[in-house]
Amino acid sequence: MTLARAVPAPSGPKKVKTVKVVDSETGAEMAELPVLTGTVGADVIDVRTLQAQTGLFTYDPGYTATASCESKITYIDGDKGELRYRGIPIEQLAEHSDFLEVCHLLLYGNLPIGGEKEAFAKGVTYHTMLHEQVNFLFRGFRRDAHPMALMVGLVGALSAFYSDSSDVDDPEQRAIASYRLIAKMPTIAAMAYKWSIGQPFVYPRNDLGYAENLLHMMFAVPCEPYQVNPVVARAMDLMLILHADHEQNASTSTVRLAGSSGANPFACIAAGIACLWGPAHGGANEAVLEMLEEIGTPNRIPEFIERAKDRDDPFRLMGFGHRVYKNYDPRAKIMRETCHQVLDELGVRDEAQLKIAMELEKIALDDPYFVERNLYPNVDFYSGIILSAMGIPRTLFTAVFAVARTIGWIAQWSEMHTDPSQKIGRPRQVYSGETERDFVPVDQRG
Ligand code: SDX
Repeated sequence: MTLARAVPAPSGPKKVKTVKVVDSETGAEMAELPVLTGTVGADVIDVRTLQAQTGLFTYDPGYTATASCESKITYIDGDKGELRYRGIPIEQLAEHSDFLEVCHLLLYGNLPIGGEKEAFAKGVTYHTMLHEQVNFLFRGFRRDAHPMALMVGLVGALSAFYSDSSDVDDPEQRAIASYRLIAKMPTIAAMAYKWSIGQPFVYPRNDLGYAENLLHMMFAVPCEPYQVNPVVARAMDLMLILHADHEQNASTSTVRLAGSSGANPFACIAAGIACLWGPAHGGANEAVLEMLEEIGTPNRIPEFIERAKDRDDPFRLMGFGHRVYKNYDPRAKIMRETCHQVLDELGVRDEAQLKIAMELEKIALDDPYFVERNLYPNVDFYSGIILSAMGIPRTLFTAVFAVARTIGWIAQWSEMHTDPSQKIGRPRQVYSGETERDFVPVDQRG
């Protein structure tokens, strides 16, 4: 069964006009650069000929204003707080779709029709098992190793087991690797959890849906049947949808950069997992729960708000702020609503953390410091509360994020490989170190 299907390829942004670079002292024109446009969002200045025309580079630490690629996958309007996967608003997908359908949308550009959903689901389902030798890799890790350390190591190691889907220039091998990664990430995440609690691994089941399978592999034990709670399964499916893709965020850019060298897909996704782990990125969901626990009671919130505003204090309000959203993260809105529903339906009465989170949000959003900087709750602010209520251990929060984001990384990596303008990523720098100087023998130094 061929799995390779057309992945929409970038067609090259259209030139709409040019802009000139003029020396403000002499008035001399230094360069004329094309302005390119997409279908929606900011136009871009194409600086690819800037150095040739002027000898100058651009300077943009953290790429705050730099488009690294053309993409057709996800669009964010940070000012309006809008997120769309292949043009469909996240709110509609959250309400009407499911994660595997969203995976098909992100990868192939459209929601599945006819038998496409069943074929895609079957392709994923029949790749959920891991090579049995992978089990032995766990034995090299301490039981208390962070699950993300296992995820990075194990996903990177998959290239040693699946070399028949590592040729990035073969669309069929790219497709097989894509299915393998989407399918095996839940299995690896669940095994990392089982390893940490000393329980036996639970194999995936082909009769369960994607989110159900993840929960079953995490919480079932060989001694008795385990029934996945449908409320938890639906909440998990929703979490996966909300975390699936997000334009050129740090971990996706890491995957693209690794992929630009021709690295195999498993190594690229392992690089993305490593980047996602950072507390400023996907690790924030775990950090939010730690912060809520440290705050402890609503009357301590002002103390932490003041610390977050203090430039000399490294403390930041975890789950707040975003490079792109200067409005409410639409995923956080959906998750805040889901929080109440999941807590109510699961009868989780300990809403202390939720109460602190909502009070923290209310106070912060009234505080000029946060308002002036457009700091709103992001995807990580409420996700930890829901995951906790679902029984997911805190150390696994970012691993669940990685399971969800794998489809985004894969879709972006696949798109990169179909982009005719694709080159190996190699940023430049502004050098401010020593000018040329000679080596000094050790007896003449000092
Ligand atoms: C994710 O990019 C993505 O799309 C990521 C993501 C995805 O789906 O892939 O959305 C997932 O990573 C969400 C973000 C999760 N991280 C956190 O919640 C950690 C806390 N947030 C911050 O570390 C920060 O807001 C970032 C890292 C998210 C964004 O940082 P930026 O864009 O570099 O903004 P900045 O650091 O330049 O901050 C601008 C100002 C600064 O103050 P001033 O220098 O102007 O005085 O806002 C302040 C910052 O000090 N600020 C905060 C703050 N976030 C920014 N102050 C207190 N608490 C915060 N959380």
